[in-house]
Amino acid sequence: MIEIVKTVAQMRSIIAKWRAEGASIGLVPTMGFLHEGHASLIDASKAQNDRTVVSDFVNPIQFAPNEDLESYPRDMEHDAALVEAHGGDIIFNPEPEEMYRGGFSTFVDMTVLTEELCGLSRPTHFRGVCTVVTKLFNIVRPDRAYFGKKDAQQLAVIKHMVDDLDMGIEIVGCPIVRENDGLAKSSRNTYLNESERKAALVLSKAIKLGSELVKNGERDCAKITAAMKELIEAQPLARIDYVKIVNAADMQQITVIDRPSLCALAVYIGKTRLIDNFFTQDIIGEV
Ligand code: PAF
Repeated sequence: MIEIVKTVAQMRSIIAKWRAEGASIGLVPTMGFLHEGHASLIDASKAQNDRTVVSDFVNPIQFAPNEDLESYPRDMEHDAALVEAHGGDIIFNPEPEEMYRGGFSTFVDMTVLTEELCGLSRPTHFRGVCTVVTKLFNIVRPDRAYFGKKDAQQLAVIKHMVDDLDMGIEIVGCPIVRENDGLAKSSRNTYLNESERKAALVLSKAIKLGSELVKNGERDCAKITAAMKELIEAQPLARIDYVKIVNAADMQQITVIDRPSLCALAVYIGKTRLIDNFFTQDIIGEV
């Protein structure tokens, strides 16, 4: 059975032993309820490192009071089986009290890159993400860390943080993994009932429409996002949070696709907020 480590001290002593053996270390940070998207991150880490740590921690400080911290899905037995099946070495699964011990009062915050998209809708979210990821990096001291491109803004924020703070860790972004019908894999998909699950396809359909417009030469961001919004608004169970195109480098909104850009959307299906995106450079290369 895969080892599940609960304390920072225990994790540190395992890392020290691996380092003494000269092993390279990959970290896959997750909030658990693992799916094939997470599995692809573990596979990528296994291919590039001697040891792979999967952190499994529902991080309370990245949820706002009105969000789904309490109901966030958890299943450690399933997670342990998935990590083991994909050859991960250790699961780091601390309790919130272990990560945020009494008097915790230091946070890592970021400007510019967090101003748009999810950062605008969830103003305290990235402060929580940057803080926990910094802590995980300090505990595990990985050579490389793996993040999914579905959370494209998160990936950009973490890359930027590592660079700004000279953390010396290679950040590897891995492709979005989708269900057969196109819905991007997410632990939150489990919230959807049958009709919502069908309605949720509107996200990947809008992404497909947007990428086709770009592929066919459209460069006007307003026209692309308007077409995507129209498609989403035709679905009665969907409510748009945002559909935007931003500069991939700084996550600031642009009006014309004249540089590597990210087209991202967040849509509520019933009460469930889902995200999806595409990078223009994956369709038309660097412009
Ligand atoms: O992407 C996630 O699951 C979380 O935001 C992360 C990176 C594990 C931090 O809690």
